[in-house]
Amino acid sequence: MFTPRPIGFVQSTYKDTAAIPKGLGAKHEAEGVLEILREFEPGLADIDGFSHLYVLWVFDRADGFDLTTTPPTDNRPHGVFATRFMRRPNPIGLTVVELLRRERGSLYVRGVDMLDGTPILDIKPYLSSIPPEQLRRGWLAEAEKRKDDPKPDQ
Ligand SMILES: C[S@@+](CC[C@H](N)C(=O)[O-])C[C@H]1O[C@@H](n2cnc3c(N)ncnc32)[C@H](O)[C@@H]1O
Repeated sequence: MFTPRPIGFVQSTYKDTAAIPKGLGAKHEAEGVLEILREFEPGLADIDGFSHLYVLWVFDRADGFDLTTTPPTDNRPHGVFATRFMRRPNPIGLTVVELLRRERGSLYVRGVDMLDGTPILDIKPYLSSIPPEQLRRGWLAEAEKRKDDPKPDQ
């Protein structure tokens, strides 16, 4: 294994988890800045051409973990690895952001769902090769359907 170390930190307007949109239909359109540490800046060469990035980061303000959770998108419990819950055995977050522009080590992005000061572990270009018709959305699709089509006992 290896000892992870931050390559930078997120600048976000979110100081408090309550401010971050949650639940079915939540949209993540907040803008923020990925501030990459000077020593890692050369690693950003040629990133400008990508419209979207994967950001791997640390849930540094989550304590411990649960193996099942009832997420804000459903009223039923699910295994933690079938959710994006923050209290996980390895507290690693993954967010896809839109790259708006870069100024040296500062990546201006849209779509942050991280708290201000969140440590960044890695950044990779987002390249999705899975056709939409092959994607299955598991329990989330069922929860969305129940919401759109509620039965009297739900
Ligand atoms: C459900 S998680 C999803 C995060 C990421 N998109 C993922 O899928 O891994 C998003 C929530 O994590 C929480 N969060 C954001 N930054 C955090 C941090 N640095 N430490 C702990 N919790 C954080 C907020 O409550 C936010 O609503």
